[in-house]
Amino acid sequence: MRKQIVAGNWKMNTTPEEGIALVKRIMELSTSVPSDVEIVVSPPFTHLYAIASSIKNSRIKAGSQNCAAWKKGAYTGEISVDMISAAGASHVIIGHSERREYFNETSPTLLEKIKLALSSDLTPIFCCGEVLEDRDADMHFDAVKVQIEEVLCKLKSKEVQKIIIAYEPIWAIGTGRTATPEQAQEMHSFIRKIMADKFGDDVANSISILYGGSCKPTNAAEIFAKPDVDGGLIGGASLDAADFIAIAQSFPQ
Ligand code: PGA
Repeated sequence: MRKQIVAGNWKMNTTPEEGIALVKRIMELSTSVPSDVEIVVSPPFTHLYAIASSIKNSRIKAGSQNCAAWKKGAYTGEISVDMISAAGASHVIIGHSERREYFNETSPTLLEKIKLALSSDLTPIFCCGEVLEDRDADMHFDAVKVQIEEVLCKLKSKEVQKIIIAYEPIWAIGTGRTATPEQAQEMHSFIRKIMADKFGDDVANSISILYGGSCKPTNAAEIFAKPDVDGGLIGGASLDAADFIAIAQSFPQ
C-alpha cells in the first residue's frame, strides 16, 4: 500500500505568528482526517523550528521548501539539510518549478540536494512538471521524462524508495487552472512506468506520486480518486486550515 499524503507548501507567506496559528488550527481539524493520511506543512525557514516544535506530539509533519546543495560552510544565506533536520523537519521540497524558474536550479543541483537530504534522513518531495508550451506542443511527456531521468533515475534503488514525487504542471500552479483528473492520471502512470522500467515494479508501486497545481476542496476528490494519484502538494489552499483539511479528507474511502 502506498502512503496517501497531503503536503502544504506555504511558499513565501505567513509571519511566524500567523504560521503557528495556522498549524494549530490544522492540528485541531486533523482529527477528522483518516489516520493513515500523512499531513505535511512546509513553512518558510524562519518559522520551521517553531512550527516543528509546536507539532511535536501530533500527527502533522513539517517540511522545508528548499535546502542548500552543500553540506556546510561559507554559503551565505543558505540553509543546510542538517539544519533543517535539526530544526525538527522530516521532509524537504526539492526542485519546485519556482526554484527551477527563478533560481535557475537544474538537474545536477537537484540530484545533489536529494542525496544530501537523504543523508540527513529527510524525505525529499521531488517536483516535476511541464510548461504550457510543452503541453500545447504535445511534448509534456518528453519534458517530464527528462526531469525524472536526469535526477531520479540517477539514484540507487534503495534511495529512490525513500522519495515522494510531485507532478505539478506549471500552467496549473497558482493559476486556478487545474489539470483534469485524466491528465493527472496519465502523467502519474507515465512517471510510474519510467520508475518501473528503471527500478522494477515493486519499487515503482511503492512510491507516492502527488498532484500539485490549483488543487482545492472542490476538485481534490476527483483527482485523488485516480489510481496513480496518491495525494497532493498544495500551495494556495494550504494557507487556509479548513480548505487544507478538506483536501486531506478527499481520498476515496
Ligand atoms: P497551488 O501551488 O496549489 O497554489 O497551485 C501548488 C504548488 O506550487 O506546489
